[in-house]
Amino acid sequence: MPAIAIIGIQFGDEGKGKITDVLASSNDIVVRSQGGPNAGHTLFIKNLKLSVHQVPSGIVRDKISILGNGMVINPKLLLSELGDIEKFGFRVSNVKISHKAHVIFPYHQELDGIEEEAKGANKIGTTKQGIGPAYIDKVARSGIRMEDLLNEDILAQKIGVQVKMKGKIFSAYNKPFEYKKEDLVKEFLEYGKNLSKYIVDTDSYLINALKKKKRVLLEGAQGSLLDVDHGTYPFVTSSNTTIGGIISGSGIPPKYITQIVGVMKAYTTRVGSGPFPTELKDNIGEFLQKKGREFGTTTNRPRRCGWEDLVISKAAVDLNGVTEIALTKVDTLGGLEKINVCIEYEIDKKKYNTLPTSAYDFEKAKPIYKTFDGWKDLSEEEWNKIKKSKGKDMPKQLSKYLKFIEHYLGVPIKMLSYGPRRDQIILNPKI
Ligand code: GDP
Ligand code: IMO
Ligand code: MG
Repeated sequence: MPAIAIIGIQFGDEGKGKITDVLASSNDIVVRSQGGPNAGHTLFIKNLKLSVHQVPSGIVRDKISILGNGMVINPKLLLSELGDIEKFGFRVSNVKISHKAHVIFPYHQELDGIEEEAKGANKIGTTKQGIGPAYIDKVARSGIRMEDLLNEDILAQKIGVQVKMKGKIFSAYNKPFEYKKEDLVKEFLEYGKNLSKYIVDTDSYLINALKKKKRVLLEGAQGSLLDVDHGTYPFVTSSNTTIGGIISGSGIPPKYITQIVGVMKAYTTRVGSGPFPTELKDNIGEFLQKKGREFGTTTNRPRRCGWEDLVISKAAVDLNGVTEIALTKVDTLGGLEKINVCIEYEIDKKKYNTLPTSAYDFEKAKPIYKTFDGWKDLSEEEWNKIKKSKGKDMPKQLSKYLKFIEHYLGVPIKMLSYGPRRDQIILNPKI
């Protein structure tokens, strides 16, 4: 039985939450493998809006929802998220948390801000959730894991070491370090007590489930261009957001993954700093931001908006081995007279249809566009008709635009999303 990976193939916020929700109905288990509360996946179920940050989107389909070993978890925020989910009427008993996932402490969050400040003009524009500093501790082999929250002696010993080490770092930055070992131990033991019923060996659970032919969905967080190795480094997050991170962060052998869904918007957005060749700082950028409601789910920052960049998405398709595309937010483009799609970059007077090999060149990349005729803004009724026809009745211009994307990326568009609700989607559209 297959496992399906859902991966963002732009800069994050492609609509992975919605696509996961749609696919979760026919799967048994949904897993998050990397990242933490930097993610914000918004779900609209009828008129209900819920944003999940650490819990997989499968929770709203009453599916087993696993926070995998590759995640960094803020237990305080997680408890509050679980409370919200319960208030919405979904079953939190479906949650399982890997005993190996790492814990984000308040000093990580503060350090995130301090490091950003120190970078000055080169700051990344992080979500200030402590993601980078928590992953630094993991890789430095001094991190504290979820299972440590269940053992007072071990937790006290590990926090004791951290308080000493972090105290030195804070003083190097001339910042007061106001965290006391005893207070942290008390606070985090309490979180451990409240979360203990969810903390299990999720890798073994997953392997056994796959052997029993359960269907697993792997819900990516962030986007491929934010991958710490393959993204626009240093303007990236601190985890592998691409297929490798999904595998190591869940403990699932690649042989089970039979489908890799690349999620992309019909245009591009980015939150935070970093290169963005197709960014629009004009009235069209403003149109996309307003009509697409492009404000960050986690930080509420306005998202930078621009035209579709097929160069980055093609690179992400190749890198992840994407087998099909879920294209979201096509509704937002309705009403534009002309629509541009970036098909190449010009860098120092040379043309490229691949990602610049150096991050420094990325900043210099000028987009070369192919221009399409737009289509009118379609009403809900018109979209319903298009859905009924399985896509056949879509405007010719839209069909031409979609065919081009498929052709350029070399993989079919298997899902076409035209609104935030779970029913606003055409599966296997005829384009
Ligand atoms: P994620 O992080 O990839 O899950 O994406 P976010 O949830 O952060 O951002 C995507 C936003 O677009 C959310 O507010 C979704 O509700 C919304 N959305 C998803 N698909 C569509 C779509 O097809 N059309 C419109 N208009 N909104 C969508
Ligand atoms: P989802 O899962 C969009 C961006 C931040 C910043 C950079 C590093 O909702 O798609 P971090 O806090 O991770 O150290 O920030 O990465 N970023 C995201 N942008 N969507 C996300 O998640 C993001 N998670 C992190 O804005 O530029
Ligand atoms: Mg998001």
